[in-house]
Amino acid sequence: MTTAPKGLEGVIAAESTISFIDGAEGVLEYVGHAIGDLAQHSTFEETVYLLWNQRLPTRSELADFSAALRERYEPPAGMRELITSLPKSAEPMHVLRTMVSALSMHDSSPNDNDPGSARSKALNILASTPTIVAYFDRHRRGLDLVAPDSSLSYAENFLYMLNGEKPTETMARAFDICMILHADHTLNNSTFAARVIISTMSDVYSALTGAIGSLRGPLHGGANEGVMHMLNEIPSVEEAESYIMGKIERKEKIMGFGHRVYKTKDPRAFALQGLAERLASDTGNQDLYAKSHKIELVMERELGAKGIYPNVDFYSATTYHCIGLKLDLFTPMFAMSRVAGWSGHVIEQLEDNRLYRPKAKYVGPHAVEYVPIEQR
Ligand code: ACO
Repeated sequence: MTTAPKGLEGVIAAESTISFIDGAEGVLEYVGHAIGDLAQHSTFEETVYLLWNQRLPTRSELADFSAALRERYEPPAGMRELITSLPKSAEPMHVLRTMVSALSMHDSSPNDNDPGSARSKALNILASTPTIVAYFDRHRRGLDLVAPDSSLSYAENFLYMLNGEKPTETMARAFDICMILHADHTLNNSTFAARVIISTMSDVYSALTGAIGSLRGPLHGGANEGVMHMLNEIPSVEEAESYIMGKIERKEKIMGFGHRVYKTKDPRAFALQGLAERLASDTGNQDLYAKSHKIELVMERELGAKGIYPNVDFYSATTYHCIGLKLDLFTPMFAMSRVAGWSGHVIEQLEDNRLYRPKAKYVGPHAVEYVPIEQR
């Protein structure tokens, strides 16, 4: 039997009706809907419904879904104390991973994987993640926690809990669009991790906890924080070119560029670029946007021929900065949104499950004689 390509490149490991990517043409669809259309016309709540039900909701279905989500914004009693007992120096992604895992202990039947239970657990996690992140951020800043407001949308409520005041309509809509754009992306590393875990008939909490662990890596969702570190390191727009050229000469990777599937500009990067430019101008961050755009132009000139273009993480860094989010909350923002996609895939996996169990090609020695420890 031949071995699979390294990193499983090009291997089809599941059938799915949730999302579709054409990496050559730069297409991303959720259940057949172009991502650009959803970013323009949909809301995050509606997009989650689409990913979990494979169709857009009617008005009353959306109202019921939003109500069920909003009534779960406040995590179960005990979670608040747990969050405020954490070291203030903890990294938010470690906090999120630990707290999503902890949610299972407040569920009286955490291991139920029938369709209704799986959806209900997914809703618990989706509703709780913004509260976990906002509570922890306020705890580490020594501020009173702001309880969720169930009259607010997912995006508005998160910014409200984080900042203690309701966001402007522009900021709330910009953040909602970010949530839509990050919600799903076929069989990426973290989604694959979630499907692998649930395929043992483990539980939804374990699957999503594992996915959060995968996402935080700098080659995956952690790259948006890497982009911001890079932008902070570049003193001015004028110095962006020499900085990038130096990295290319040293054969270092530039965060926010390149993708296993896209060999052209990620369609989400177009939408995020538009948002970043608009918000940068509204918030006096024009230099940050100008630096980002300069980097994109240099990268296209130098590495465009290799198919290395901006991915979702590149302009999301500028966008999140302009929304006022702290750097180490960028990846948690990605996770908050991707809970939608992970859950959709977990539900889909459970509907037609078979245990994931690939093989490894053994390349080590055989029949090795055991040498007693005193003779080694
Ligand atoms: N900067 C410079 N060169 C790059 C970059 C980059 N960002 N990405 C890929 N390359 C080069 C590699 O050095 C390699 O060159 P070589 O063939 O001359 O050795 C070639 O392109 C192929 O790169 P691989 O890392 O083998 O490609 P792979 O498909 O395994 O990796 C990945 C994809 C991990 C996303 C890669 O492009 C990368 O590390 N990018 C930076 C991190 C990043 O932005 N990650 C976020 C991805 S999107 C997401 O997960 C949400």
